[in-house]
Amino acid sequence: MNKEKQKSVLILGGAGFIGNNVTRYLAENRHYDLTVADDFSAGRKDAELETLCAKHGIRIITADFSKQKAFELLDTHYDDVYVLASVVGVNRCIEEPEEVIRINANIILHTTEWLRTAKPSRVLFASSSENYAAATDIFNYPVPTAETVPVCIADTRHPRFTYAVTKIFGEAAFFAYGRTLEIHTTVVRYQNIYGPRMGFKHAIPHIIERIYKGENPVKIYGAEQTRAFAYCTDAAEGTVRALESDASNQQVYHIGNNDEITMDTLTRKIGALMGYTGGYEEAETYPGSVSRRCPDITKAGNDFNYHPKVSLDEGLRKTIAWYRSFFDSGAAIPSGGFKAPEALNYKK
Ligand SMILES: NC(=O)c1ccc[n+]([C@@H]2O[C@H](COP(=O)([O-])OP(=O)(O)OC[C@H]3O[C@@H](n4cnc5c(N)ncnc54)[C@H](O)[C@@H]3O)[C@@H](O)[C@H]2O)c1
Repeated sequence: MNKEKQKSVLILGGAGFIGNNVTRYLAENRHYDLTVADDFSAGRKDAELETLCAKHGIRIITADFSKQKAFELLDTHYDDVYVLASVVGVNRCIEEPEEVIRINANIILHTTEWLRTAKPSRVLFASSSENYAAATDIFNYPVPTAETVPVCIADTRHPRFTYAVTKIFGEAAFFAYGRTLEIHTTVVRYQNIYGPRMGFKHAIPHIIERIYKGENPVKIYGAEQTRAFAYCTDAAEGTVRALESDASNQQVYHIGNNDEITMDTLTRKIGALMGYTGGYEEAETYPGSVSRRCPDITKAGNDFNYHPKVSLDEGLRKTIAWYRSFFDSGAAIPSGGFKAPEALNYKK
């Protein structure tokens, strides 16, 4: 392919879990000039990323994009921009809610202002199912939940919701700038994406870590709560298809899976896959955690043929294998690893 005709694509937050999968999908399935921009606060500068970037000639820019100055390091124009950079994780929200607000809001403000000059053809903002958690929990909005659900925060005083507040703000900001600047703008709301390299702050790595380290009985936090888990490669493909779809301008899509499962079943399934034969006991989960979550993914299926392919068993096997080898290596867990809900420093 003629190099001059290649599209240039920026993946902001491209070293993170989903960002890395999006970058890999683009590298392996498209012929674009790719740039990953990340401050590596959560993203991993490991051999996997370095090999991927070296193999496909992907440029890495390291900077804190909550600061306006970082945008000077970027090229003057990109065709497509994926905005995945964000502070994530319940622990961070509960322990440093003001940092979640500061960092996420600044990334959104500076990126949208930068769009004025960079003028990409398309931009995609990564949002979250947290945006409508209260609608399903308090107002009994139907589950599986479609994109028409009103966004809703249960309590603005609760630190848990700082993340969702920034995501609601981000959706509105990108749609507003996109409309004014005539940039094709798409929002994807990820719903429980999992897989290797997903960090150490989410339910699945927590369960694997506790079983690996010998917890017995294994605690099942929020046993009756339900979630639906989508494997990272499916989510990455869905993300790229969302941005590239002609139907996706000014649209929100739920990117996830619609196989709803209780935390009880999930925990026991991981235990069985890891060969754990001990007992289980129920425990109270994180404050503000929703009782049911499962996306309706019909719209993404209709608009760009998004149909997750990887089964939960297959995805969990790959995920467990990655975490096992990480723990076996003796490497330090970047975030300190699992923190029980009761150990969180939550000041009411
Ligand atoms: N994983 C999920 O299930 C899920 C669910 C809902 C929404 N999301 C959203 O999807 C996106 C990707 O999530 P993820 O799970 O890959 O998280 P992640 O933490 O692995 O990725 C986020 C990336 O952003 C980078 N980053 C953070 N602050 C930055 C800054 N100031 N400047 C530059 N880079 C910065 C981090 O280093 C990291 O690489 C996020 O916007 C997240 O809110 C993810």
